[in-house]
Amino acid sequence: MPGVHLRLVTPDNEAECLRLRVDDSQARFIATNAKSLAQAKANPLLVPLAIYDREACGYLKPGVPMVGFVMYEVDCGVGSILRIMIDRAHQGKGYGRAAMIQVIRRLQRYPEVEMIVTSHRHDNAVAASLFRSLGFVPWDVREAAELNPGEVHLRLPDSVWIVKERVMDKEIVE
Ligand SMILES: CC(C)(COP(=O)(O)OP(=O)(O)OC[C@H]1O[C@@H](n2cnc3c(N)ncnc32)[C@H](O)[C@@H]1OP(=O)(O)O)[C@@H](O)C(=O)NCCC(=O)NCCS
Repeated sequence: MPGVHLRLVTPDNEAECLRLRVDDSQARFIATNAKSLAQAKANPLLVPLAIYDREACGYLKPGVPMVGFVMYEVDCGVGSILRIMIDRAHQGKGYGRAAMIQVIRRLQRYPEVEMIVTSHRHDNAVAASLFRSLGFVPWDVREAAELNPGEVHLRLPDSVWIVKERVMDKEIVE
């Protein structure tokens, strides 16, 4: 699995983030990055991150293309992974899985985070399979289900936090 480097989206890399595209067939699964970045500008709880290959780590100018975008929020004791997308030219190379693992590890380090959650459209088979393979299980959250019935809500069980951290560390080292 490739390693990833996550870096805040700032004025320096925002234009590149706005150029990232999913396949036309995937567009209904995720908000555009333009919309996500606009939301992040209006809401300081949102953390918008650019995804690069780990080669970019340590460099002011990454030197490699941005491959994707991920955004999370920490609120009310919950760390929510709200968006993840990998540019269509870089999908299927392991960046999506590696970025999810990095974000989960970040969220685990927030003292106030008691639960980690995510969601996907009910017909998004790739995201469903990826999230389940990382240990996410159905989260029966009535409020969100009522607001958005086409969305499947998932949470990471407590037991997976501990076991997965070891598995994830191993995956990252490998
Ligand atoms: C979901 C997404 C982020 C996955 O990113 P990715 O970098 O392509 O995924 P990875 O290469 O890390 O692969 C993760 C798993 O998905 C599988 N996968 C990836 N693309 C696939 C495809 N087009 N069809 C079937 N399986 C696919 C991989 O085989 C892998 O499974 P494995 O680990 O069991 O082998 C990416 O497909 C994407 O950006 N989709 C559009 C936006 C979206 O749906 N975001 C999620 C919103 S909730």
